This record gives sequence, structure tokens and C-alpha cells, in this order.
Amino acid sequence: MHREEITNLTAGPSTLPLAVLEQAAKGLLNYENTGMGITELSHRSAEFVKLDNDLQEILGRHLHIPDTHSILFVQGGGSLQFSAVVLNLLARHRRFFPNLSEEERVMDYVVTGSWSAKGAEEAERLGGGAPVNIVQNGRTLSRDGKSFEQIADPKEWKFSPNPAFVYYCENETVDGIQFDGVVSSSVSGAAPLSFPFDLLPRDPADPTRSVPLDHALIFAGAQKNIGPAGLTILIVRHDLLHPLPPKTPSNIPISMDYGVVAKANSLYNTPPTFAMYVALLVLRHFEGQGGIQVLATVNGRKAHKVYAVLEYGEQRGVVRMRVKDGHRSHMNITFEVLGEGEEARFISEGTAKGFRGIKGHRSVGGVRLSLYNAVTEDQVDGLVAFILEFIDSSPSARKT
Ligand SMILES: Cc1ncc(COP(=O)(O)O)c(C=O)c1O
Repeated sequence: MHREEITNLTAGPSTLPLAVLEQAAKGLLNYENTGMGITELSHRSAEFVKLDNDLQEILGRHLHIPDTHSILFVQGGGSLQFSAVVLNLLARHRRFFPNLSEEERVMDYVVTGSWSAKGAEEAERLGGGAPVNIVQNGRTLSRDGKSFEQIADPKEWKFSPNPAFVYYCENETVDGIQFDGVVSSSVSGAAPLSFPFDLLPRDPADPTRSVPLDHALIFAGAQKNIGPAGLTILIVRHDLLHPLPPKTPSNIPISMDYGVVAKANSLYNTPPTFAMYVALLVLRHFEGQGGIQVLATVNGRKAHKVYAVLEYGEQRGVVRMRVKDGHRSHMNITFEVLGEGEEARFISEGTAKGFRGIKGHRSVGGVRLSLYNAVTEDQVDGLVAFILEFIDSSPSARKT
């Protein structure tokens, strides 16, 4: 198979722009004329320290990250952050409110999909005496009581009065659920559901600020959209960055302590050097194509085209969308193909036509199409043509 014959719709690790991979291949052999490949350079070398700073600069500029926050690069993936979040945010809460009991350090989790559910489980495990409050549990609204198909109306959410922190996942990649506030991918015009920041309780440490209107922490695994696996990007507000004095007892493993990592400019221990290099190349590549605004516009169009053909398939009784309109992810589109053996046929015919990674996550089944940045609009047009042909030739299709 040649690369050009494949449309890689995998949910992560995911496709990267060819031009970036070609450049990265050169950097693997000889990075910036050092005579050494990027993976052979010390993370303490001047060249790598510059790369670390350049990556922070480009992320800061494109995401408009204010100087109240630091950008950190760590290993361990989203899953390690499920643990690190609990330990670091509870440590912050103990620092600001030393006289509260552990039972009063309530952690509010908004469970909209498989990942926020996992985050909440980890908080239960690591919270010590601090309890977890599930603000809303999307599972209870699904047909089988186990899946995630929609987010409850925010009027029904139950925040605790004084949470230590509020946790939510903006885009649930397994289930295909997103707080759809930025670009609506809705075909029918359903109202998009944004995260209801206005309902958040006030932070007693700073009553002018709701928790966490300017987020205390954002984390993202690079393997979706930004680069190879191995790199996790953290955007951390400065009131979380207080390393304890040496020898003070702490339950935070030292390389997971945001204060320690920040003090060392992400070089407390060896960061994922190659993944950071490729991330920088990816960001420069998309900057050259117009930056985030252009990406958002193109991605909105891509999602809209795929949802439109799937809604047509739904009207003809060939597919069933998994997620309620207005709550659907722009990046990870999930659905089922109806009829005995039809889903397997969709996947095998799609695979034969070069579409890869289209099977749903092993925990939920179905079909999942991930339209990350490096999936081009031309590839999406090819995908839409395939889906349309499948629908129109399906034995289970109703006449329109
Ligand atoms: C939203 C979200 N959270 C967490 C994770 C877990 O990330 P990792 O596999 O890097 O631990 C993923 C990965 O698929 C994800 O998409």
C-alpha cells in the first residue's frame, strides 16, 4: 500500500501531515546541522532548550494563553493526568483552605463520556478522604443505561456549593460527545450545548472568579492532532505551581508535581524530545496554512459534510447516530450501521477503499470516524462519496 491510497481516520495516535513527517525524518538523522539526530541530542543541550521554548511560544501565541498560565510538557498521557489532577488540585485546596476537613474538599466531575468517567474513578481512588460529586452522569440518559448519547440539560446539573475543583472533558473521543460551543456541526440546526460556565460556583479563594472560569488546568494528549504519542501538554494557572519546600511530606510523585515541572521549564526529568520536535513542526505547518482560525473553519466544514450524509443515511434507515444533535463531536463521529452483518460490511468495504481506523472503540463498538486536522477536505469528500454509495446500495435502505 502507498500512503496516498490511505485515508487514516484513526482516533489516536492519528494521521500527521506528510510534509511534517518528511521533515521529521531528516531531523531524525541530522537536527539543524548538528550532525546528530533529534533523538540523540541531550534535553539539556542549547538546541533542545530552544526547541522547548519555541514550542511554548507557538502554542502560547496560537491559543492566546495569558501570562497567568505556564505551558508544560510531560510524559504519561491523559491517563497519568487523571491521577495528577487529583493530587495537584487537592494540594492547592489544602494550601488555600488548611482548616477544612478532607470531607469538605469535594471534587465535582461532569461525566459526559468514557474518559471523564475514568477521571472520576481515579479521583475516587486517590482522593483520600475527599469525596467525588458526580455533577451529571450522561449514562443515565442513554437507551441502555450504559452508553453515552447526550449531556443532561445543565439546569439538571448538581454542582456542590464549594467544590475543590470542577472537572470536565471538552471532547469525549470514544463516545463522540463534545461541548459544541465553537463551531456547530449540526445539520438540522439544533442548538449547540456549550459548557455552562455561568452556572459554576464561585471560588472562595477569589470570589470574582468562578471555578474555573479561566481554567486552572487544561491537559491534552498530543497524539490527537498535534504530534506523536508520548507528549502531554499542560496549561497550568500559576496558583497551582507551588512546589513544597524540600523534605516536606507530599503524596504527589515528584515528576507529577506541576510546581516542580514548571520550575524546571519541563526539564525536571527527560521530556518526550522527539514528540515535542514533531509537535513543533506540526504547529509551524498549520501556522503556514493560516493557523487555528483556518483549521477551525475547514474542520467545521468537514464535520458538517459527514454529519449531513449520515443524517441522510439515518432517514433511509441505514445508520443510527449515537449522539444527540447539538452534543456531537466535530472530531470523532460515532454511529451504528443497521441490519444483520451490515456494519461488518461497511467496515470491510471501507477498509478495501483505503479508509483506516473506522471501527468504533473496543469498549463501545459501532463505527467511529476521526477527522483530525491532518485529514484533508479532499479525503473527507472521498469518505462522503463512499458513505453515500453504501447508503444508496444498502439492502435495508428505505425508499425516500
Ligand atoms: C479525551 C481523552 N482523555 C484521555 C485519554 C487517555 O489518554 P492516554 O491514552 O494518552 O492516557 C484519551 C485518549 O484516547 C482521550 O481521548
